[in-house]
Amino acid sequence: MTMMPARVMPPHDAAGPSRPVLHPLVVRLTHWLNAAAVLVMVASGWRIYDASPFLPFTFPESLTLGGWLGGALQWHFAGMWLLVTNGLVYLAYGFASGHFRRDFLPVTVRAVARDLWLAATFRLPHAPGAYNAVQRLLYIAVLICLATVILSGLAIWKPVQLHPLTALLGGYEAARRVHFLAMSGIVGFLAVHIALVVLVPRTLPPMITGRAWPAREGGIG
Ligand code: HEM
Repeated sequence: MTMMPARVMPPHDAAGPSRPVLHPLVVRLTHWLNAAAVLVMVASGWRIYDASPFLPFTFPESLTLGGWLGGALQWHFAGMWLLVTNGLVYLAYGFASGHFRRDFLPVTVRAVARDLWLAATFRLPHAPGAYNAVQRLLYIAVLICLATVILSGLAIWKPVQLHPLTALLGGYEAARRVHFLAMSGIVGFLAVHIALVVLVPRTLPPMITGRAWPAREGGIG
């Protein structure tokens, strides 16, 4: 038996019944701006880490951005403003419009276990306009990682002015490790996220144009 996620019909149907809008413009815009900001922040962050590594490895220079510590810091701060302002717009929309409540909730252990099993056996259906329980869990987890990376980033950027925040995270060195850990969570999410898009490529066009891709039901997603 195949089980469909709770919401199968998309909420926005301004384009008529044939090709409904699956992702509203604000979600698409903030998603791609966020993706650009995350790539800039991760690549420049790796260069900053390489200048003073606290683990027994450094990142290959070809995967980093900025060329040297000063250049990487410039990229990192430029990316930070985009990440934070864009993230605030996305969060405001997500809460105010009911997008988070409608599309990310509920997430139950039972539903995640069921959808993981269906995905592992290549039987998880992808209903256009609805996220399965594994996707919901991953999206909520990456939003928590993004909030953590921003808070710990603030703690190591302004450890004097934001002393209570830095202290809450266990001090400067601990905050640095929290920052690294949250970055690792985001990179891990990206690996799974992009693998899922490759496995179910018809989820990509709606994230660009907003419109549902005319396609058969079925497959994993
Ligand atoms: C650069 C490569 C990326 C690609 C190709 C990509 C692709 C996609 C696609 C196709 C969807 C819709 C999935 C569906 O309808 O089933 C989606 C949704 C989403 N992606 Fe990405 N993504 C990328 C980067 C990122 C990054 C860097 C993040 C965050 C760190 C992210 C977070 C999300 C979230 C939270 C959603 C749900 C959006 C919502 O409905 O509010 N993505 N992505």
